[in-house]
Amino acid sequence: MSTPLKEAVRDLPLPAIGEPVIEVHNLTKRYGRNIVHQHLNLDIRRGEIVTIVGGSGAGKTTLVRQILGLEKPSSGSIRMFGEDLATVGAEDMRLMRTRTGMLFQHGALFSSLTVFDNIAQPVRELGKVPADLLRDIVMLKLEMVGLPCKHASKMPAALSGGMVKRVGLARAIVLEPELLFLDEPTAGLDPRSSDEVVDLISTLHRALGLTVVLVTHDLDAMVALSTRVAVLAERRVLIAAPVEEVAGVDDPFVREYFLGMRGRRALQALPPERRAKLPRAALAPAFGSMGGGPC
Ligand SMILES: Nc1ncnc2c1ncn2[C@@H]1O[C@H](COP(=O)(O)OP(=O)(O)O)[C@@H](O)[C@H]1O
Ligand SMILES: [Mg+2]
Repeated sequence: MSTPLKEAVRDLPLPAIGEPVIEVHNLTKRYGRNIVHQHLNLDIRRGEIVTIVGGSGAGKTTLVRQILGLEKPSSGSIRMFGEDLATVGAEDMRLMRTRTGMLFQHGALFSSLTVFDNIAQPVRELGKVPADLLRDIVMLKLEMVGLPCKHASKMPAALSGGMVKRVGLARAIVLEPELLFLDEPTAGLDPRSSDEVVDLISTLHRALGLTVVLVTHDLDAMVALSTRVAVLAERRVLIAAPVEEVAGVDDPFVREYFLGMRGRRALQALPPERRAKLPRAALAPAFGSMGGGPC
């Protein structure tokens, strides 16, 4: 789907990679005797799209919740925009929250609020904003995510899955954040809606110069969007690198995830110069229902 915004940013360069906006250093997180993270390190720089992958229960959501300050580390430090989360005051924390947007997989929208009120909610939380200004802000965001303004008065139940994600994204960017967290933004969508959401994330990344932290199981989305992929395994970040480099790491999760048939098929979407850097095992034919091979 082409939108005015997509056309406008098509020829823009990707945002430049800048200073670290998230610095996780020597993080340990325990729940009772369950050690989820141990000596975990991860830096994310301005302008990047970093995808966090790992098996179920590897600690992806727990890591994101700690970065957002919703959960406290057992030890180690997390800095966001250069501020140590352990020592930052309540007012600075509130300001930092306004510089970040979030799209959670579950409970993405309030079912009892219209599309307009869902998108307006983070603005209203900040304080009183004149009605006409609020309307302009919300309508601009609807347009940015490619939804006609006639949808503003609808309830979430009347929307398709793809539209719900768009509204969730409009709400996540309503305060024009620098940093956007997306938890499974394409989960439950049909392939076409998935592609449209991936396209939209890429457009917003360019248009707003966003830094994006993405948690996803969707290999196609991961390959299409990531500047780097961070693999969570053995309680730490095993590697955080471009996907063609990650695919060559000798690790059971990496082999299964990236070099299985679905992984190999997804990696075919990389541009030739990046495909050339893939390990040989990733280049084996990816036959299957879509591959047209002998199976
Ligand atoms: N609030 C909590 N209390 C106790 N254990 C938790 C809590 N949140 C997560 N865990 C545990 O932490 C581990 C990692 O969970 P999670 O971060 O949700 O994994 P992922 O998102 O990678 O699937 C799991 O073993 C889970 O049971
Ligand atoms: Mg999770």
